[in-house]
Formats: sequence, structure tokens, C-alpha cells
Amino acid sequence: ISMIAQTYAEVYDQLSKEERLEFMAQVEEQGERLRVIIKNLLDFSRPKELQLAETEVNVIIQKTIELIQNMLEVSNIKLILELAEDLPTVYVDEHQILQVLINITTNAIQVMTDMDSGGELRLRSRYLADSDDVEIEISDNGKGIAPEFLDHIFDPFFTTKGDSGTGLGLWVSYGIIKNHGGMIRVESSVGAGTAFFITLPSCKKSKRCPDVSV
Ligand SMILES: Nc1ncnc2c1ncn2[C@@H]1O[C@H](COP(=O)(O)OP(=O)(O)OP(=O)(O)O)[C@@H](O)[C@H]1O
Ligand SMILES: [Mg+2]
Repeated sequence: ISMIAQTYAEVYDQLSKEERLEFMAQVEEQGERLRVIIKNLLDFSRPKELQLAETEVNVIIQKTIELIQNMLEVSNIKLILELAEDLPTVYVDEHQILQVLINITTNAIQVMTDMDSGGELRLRSRYLADSDDVEIEISDNGKGIAPEFLDHIFDPFFTTKGDSGTGLGLWVSYGIIKNHGGMIRVESSVGAGTAFFITLPSCKKSKRCPDVSV
């Protein structure tokens, strides 16, 4: 914004009315961008307000689907759902986990929207008995992530989307999952697709679940 304002000040006299309006529109647009960034940062820096409750992962996945259904239809993306039955519950802030799933599925949908057709979004839940975790997998068959970027996608402000991305979605998601005692990792292969794996400790394992005798 300060760069736009500076340029504006320098060239003000040479500009037509339309050009001045165009400059102001840019200021407004970048201001909106800042607003979103600050909102995300504030959302993220309030971990104390975690509203933990015993929750079913499959229910959060269903809520995610309701929210992304329209985007899937518009982009002609097929949804493949593989939800395990009899999953143990988790002890989480449902709203925050929903936010993580929205962030990751939105990235997947964006990358598959660039394809002509044949986009497939896979949402899978399963129980990892060895570690007593519940795993959520979100995978796409989009263009994949270049190996040199893989180590950076969880960094704040890392984006390959230019002005249309803030690069905060995955960073925020990473923080949320860490706050829940979970893990998030990615596997990607250029030309084939990308898979995100989120693990959350089962209610019993988290030892905080009120309704479970440990
Ligand atoms: N499913 C995916 N396929 C390919 N690249 C991905 C995928 N998910 C994330 N990325 C890469 O990781 C980068 C960071 O993602 P992140 O969600 O943090 O930010 P963003 O999507 O660029 O911006 P924002 O989420 O703030 O709109 C993306 O710009 C993209 O390069
Ligand atoms: Mg994103």
C-alpha cells in the first residue's frame, strides 16, 4: 500500500481522473488483503480459546463436504469418500479442525480447477491402531508440488498464487494441528497429485477426554 501511495504521489499530476480512481481501487484491494492477513493472524494467535469437546472426525468431514459441495460442482470434481466406521472419538475444537479441512480441501480444489477435467478429491478417515491416532487423508490428483517447494509450504506467507494467495492457510493449519497434539504431513508427486495426512490422538490417548475411563 505504501508503495502504491508513493507512486501515486509522484505521478499524481500526470494522471487522468480514471487513472486516479484505478490507483485508489488498488489501495482498497491491498487494504482488503491486509485485513484478511491480520484476521488470520489474530485467529491463529488465540490458542487459549480452544473449545475442546469429544468429537467424531467423520462428522467434521461431513461438515467440510457441506461447505465445499458447491466448489466441487462448479469445478466438476469428483468426491471419493472413504470413512472408517467405529473410529474412536477425538478431543478437539471442532471449529478449528473444520477450518484446517477447509484450508486443505480448498487448496486441492484450486489446483484441480486448473485442470481440464477428471479432478478427484479423496477424503479418508481411518484408525491407526499402533499409535492410537485417527488419521484424515485429503488427496487430489492435481499437478503436485515441486520438490523444492515441499519443505516450505507450511511456512507463513509461502504461496505460489501471487496476489490471490496469502500463504497462511497451511501455516495456520499446521499450528492448529500441533495445538491438538497431532501431526500433519504431505506427500506429493509432480504430475500425479498431493496427499495431506493429519493425525489426531484418540480421545483416550489424549487423556483429557472427560467421558472416557483411561
Ligand atoms: N493440493 C495442493 N496441490 C499443489 N500445491 C499445493 C497444494 N496445497 C498447497 N499447495 C502449495 O502450497 C502453497 C501454500 O498453501 P497455503 O494454503 O498455505 O497458501 P495459499 O493457498 O497460497 O494461500 P491462502 O491459503 O492464504 O489463500 C500454495 O501456494 C501451493 O503452492
Ligand atoms: Mg490455501
